[in-house]
Amino acid sequence: MVDAEKPVEALTLEEAADELRRLAATIAHHDVLYHQNDAPEISDADYDALRLRNKAIEQRFPELVLTDGPSTRVGAAPSAGFAKVTHSRPMLSLDNAFTDEDVREFCRSVRNYLKRDFDADPALTLDLVAEPKIDGLSCALRYEHGRFVQGATRGDGTTGEDVTANCRTVAGIPLHLTGSGYPALLEVRGEVYMARDAFFKLNQERSAAGEPVFANPRNAAAGSLRQLDPAITAKRPLAFFAYAIGETDGSVGITHFEMLENFGKWGFQVNPLDQLCPDEDATLAFYAEVGRRRASLPYDIDGVVYKVNRFDWQRRLGMVARAPRWAIAHKFPAEQARTVLREIKIQVGRTGALTPVAELQPVTVGGVVVSRATLHNEDEIARKDVRPGDTVIVQRAGDVIPQVVSVVLEARPADSQPYVFPDHCPECGSLAIREPGEVVKRCTGGLICPAQAVERLRHFVSRDAFDIEGLGAKHIKALFDDHLVRSPVDIFSLQKKHHENLRMREGWGALSLRNLYQAIEQRRTMALDRFIYALGIRQVGQATSKLLARHYGDVNAWRQAMIDAADRAGDAWADLDNISQIGESVATDLVAFFAEPHNITV
Ligand code: IVH
Repeated sequence: MVDAEKPVEALTLEEAADELRRLAATIAHHDVLYHQNDAPEISDADYDALRLRNKAIEQRFPELVLTDGPSTRVGAAPSAGFAKVTHSRPMLSLDNAFTDEDVREFCRSVRNYLKRDFDADPALTLDLVAEPKIDGLSCALRYEHGRFVQGATRGDGTTGEDVTANCRTVAGIPLHLTGSGYPALLEVRGEVYMARDAFFKLNQERSAAGEPVFANPRNAAAGSLRQLDPAITAKRPLAFFAYAIGETDGSVGITHFEMLENFGKWGFQVNPLDQLCPDEDATLAFYAEVGRRRASLPYDIDGVVYKVNRFDWQRRLGMVARAPRWAIAHKFPAEQARTVLREIKIQVGRTGALTPVAELQPVTVGGVVVSRATLHNEDEIARKDVRPGDTVIVQRAGDVIPQVVSVVLEARPADSQPYVFPDHCPECGSLAIREPGEVVKRCTGGLICPAQAVERLRHFVSRDAFDIEGLGAKHIKALFDDHLVRSPVDIFSLQKKHHENLRMREGWGALSLRNLYQAIEQRRTMALDRFIYALGIRQVGQATSKLLARHYGDVNAWRQAMIDAADRAGDAWADLDNISQIGESVATDLVAFFAEPHNITV
């Protein structure tokens, strides 16, 4: 396997091909987590880094570019459950700028593209509209003769989900346009988002009800809009800012700014901070000003967007790959703060990974109180030499949990000792080991480890896996603790073996039990991809499960192939390793899962 840190310039052709396949699978995996499950596992910055590495390898090895790789796809395909909507014009993504120089380079290339106009008239200005980049999800809203007729999510940019009924419940989406002069057919695009206050309130309610909380307002907005029951969406405080145009049969103005003014007249919310800038200096001043106000804005933003104002220029500039040439997102650096690290706790995940978590003295980072941060893994702790009692810099990258960036060495207590990472699982006491080339230490306790068993069971019954309604996270933990359900198999004999016990338990009425039994009965047959996903095999997410199901067709063929693939010289291994987007690392985890007799028995 190629070292994921190996510099792009040092990659051999073979390694580059492997690396592109690995990145395609990894990016696809994170796209699904972000766009479909609303539950990212990595920060935006880490995700951007994956894409940048992918792009750099593609530039060095253009002959290796995958036809369905990350650079030709945007986001993730729509999930089952909603009708699909094919966008009349693709919903694009944006290229990112991280520094002032990136922005100047963007303007240079735009001027260069429009060279003949600028040569002809040296007094010409490159007007740009600067807008806050709202952290929500983009939607396309269609109006016919002023009446709202369809709302769709972006999905993979080509095909999204029909969320019309849900959009109707969003306060900021007008059902009838106001004013006059709007085209008979008008598709307005913009961002559905949740204000920060509303997000905190919603999470408090969810936490009180024992429901999982959303990681951030973006996920809350996406999770709320993508509800199959619009009545649930209606209860969620969503809002909408209009910022782009899709299909239309008339004119919305001759510049972007004029269009935004028209959107306002027609009843849409347009961000009041949006500003017309005559050049890059003005956009950079806007960036600095919005950056200063960022923490006090009522919603999360992760940067600002600059768009060429003149539509005729936008048309000439067109687009490359997945992004317009006439716009760019200028990202904010992650927000940081200084605090004391009280303790390092080790969490054991569903796959047995030991994850160190910093327990912090609570501190406000970008308007959010942070009391825990990830330390990633053993090597990271050693590299940064993080110790309990240290004063540290923490960073919130807009998404997922905050990170410890560095230690303030001057503030280190005199008696401080280096941190020693445990070599046993704190949950079950089994040996924790690191396989060669791995950064993660894992508990070897498999299904005897309570941390893993409960997590595996929760994953098994979760919505995208067996989807057993009525068997929530809390139930699983209680049933596990009482030895009623120790492995997935036990779920299917609950009624036969434990009906009396269940009947006597608090919170299980006769009706809810009947519903639970019925839900379990309905899951005795299961689509192969969901079954594979439900097993919780390392690196095998929904996308990989679908690939495997499609490739092997039925469960027996798949199981036998995975067992046979243990022989690396044999056909089964070659067949598995050859499935596009699977790659050696995932294949190794699949084989490892089937090498554990306990798993086969279950
Ligand atoms: S313009 C072709 N404007 O950022 C233009 N996008 O990274 C496409 N976003 O998918 C988008 N605020 O979800 C635009 N003022 C803004 C935005 C914005 C947030 C999101 C949007 C888009 C993503 C691209």
